[in-house]
Amino acid sequence: MTEEASCRGPVDLVVRGGTVVNAGWRGPSDVFVSDGKVIALAAPGTPVPKGSSPDEVDANGMLVMPGGVDPHCHVGFTSGEYTSLDDQLQCTTAAVFGGTTTIVDFAIPRPGQSPLGEVERRQAAAGEGLCDSALHGCVVEWDDSTADQLREMAARGVNTIKMFTTYRGESMADEYTILRTMQAMRETGGMVVIHCEADHIIGEAQRRCAVEGGVEASRMAATRPEIAETASVAEILAIAESVGAPVYFVHQSTAEAVELVAAARRRGMRAYSETVAHHLVLDEGVYAGTHPERFVCCPPLRSRQTVRALGRHLFTGEVSTVGSDHCCYDTGQKLENRHDVRDMPNGLPGVETRLATVFSTYVAGMDLPVTRFVELVSADPARTNGLYPRKGALLPGSDADIVVWDPSARWTMRSRDLHMATDYTPYEGMEVTGRPRTVVVGGRVVVHDGELVDPRPQGRALAAGPVVAF
Ligand code: URP
Ligand code: ZN
Ligand code: ZN
Repeated sequence: MTEEASCRGPVDLVVRGGTVVNAGWRGPSDVFVSDGKVIALAAPGTPVPKGSSPDEVDANGMLVMPGGVDPHCHVGFTSGEYTSLDDQLQCTTAAVFGGTTTIVDFAIPRPGQSPLGEVERRQAAAGEGLCDSALHGCVVEWDDSTADQLREMAARGVNTIKMFTTYRGESMADEYTILRTMQAMRETGGMVVIHCEADHIIGEAQRRCAVEGGVEASRMAATRPEIAETASVAEILAIAESVGAPVYFVHQSTAEAVELVAAARRRGMRAYSETVAHHLVLDEGVYAGTHPERFVCCPPLRSRQTVRALGRHLFTGEVSTVGSDHCCYDTGQKLENRHDVRDMPNGLPGVETRLATVFSTYVAGMDLPVTRFVELVSADPARTNGLYPRKGALLPGSDADIVVWDPSARWTMRSRDLHMATDYTPYEGMEVTGRPRTVVVGGRVVVHDGELVDPRPQGRALAAGPVVAF
């Protein structure tokens, strides 16, 4: 804490009276902001320098946290015949309402399109957002141009490359392509981020379901068994280890998968586990309900026992980050092919609900330390995306992206009160504790008491630095 630093003017915003929470540290502090940056954490009540007349945000009784960094967020994502329904403005609007002030989107090329072309298209849209965004590139097939494209992406600040071991014919990459891409990323200081489900095991499970029991949405969990994830994670770890490359596993849905990654870390690999809010909060019981199609995502929701075991790894430290895997389809799209999950759009809306569902379930409900919460939803997503400490921290020099969080607000999630470009939430009717009261983006108060008070787009395409090892 630096009392005297408050005298370095000019101050244009002060967040007063709250408890600042960074990863690993919390304490009463006022946050001084100038020109979009945090300039000081000061003792409560520290006066502003003469000549400054900053706006003040009252944070008494509140937690003051770095805005959420969502490491896994699909904006207007096309897969097969379906495109999710939001654009940059809609997605980032929902994000800031939920306390997330940085999203990391995916530039996934359509068949025949170049990976770099999709990066350029999405970076050009960043300015339409209410908050900043970064990108994961994507490689589906290695060819003569891939190495140059990866170098050009790195030059444009895209240092993480998404790959898939499933979705055959769409975005699945073969092992040779994965190995080559990992080698190339090792050279640029970047990292492959990978969706692991063994496609052959899933194909066989789907074929078996089709002949006995069915492949409608209510059968989602049976069509993509846990073993498909375990098998694929083990193989990808072996490839990464063989070439000495770091690797980040997206949306891990089982403790077994997380534990494979943790064991790799213990033998010296740089390997990271991401899990996502819906795998931590919901279970496969919803597939037996009246709207199973609303919960169709890959990997699918798992048994209650698996969810409990996965959630335990928020406490053990084995999970590195918590994302949303936001994918904004509506019920019309979800219903169309509900009789066959192989033809359905996969994915759940969640960029706005990530912080509240995880805070409520694990911090309010199970005493997860709030410093660990910040680490999971903000600091470590910033680290794994080469954005820390500009993002994911409230430190002098960090961007002034701040969420003033009411830890005891109780509310009911209703899709009509949310801002995502869809007509449902997987959490309809869920009673939760904790919500953002004020959200500051780049030093400007953007959301206050559930109202958008500054709708001016100010998003920037963030250039990722090298991934910070931890
Ligand atoms: O079901 C999901 N997760 N849909 C989004 C695409 C992906 O696999 O991340
Ligand atoms: Zn995925
Ligand atoms: Zn995803």
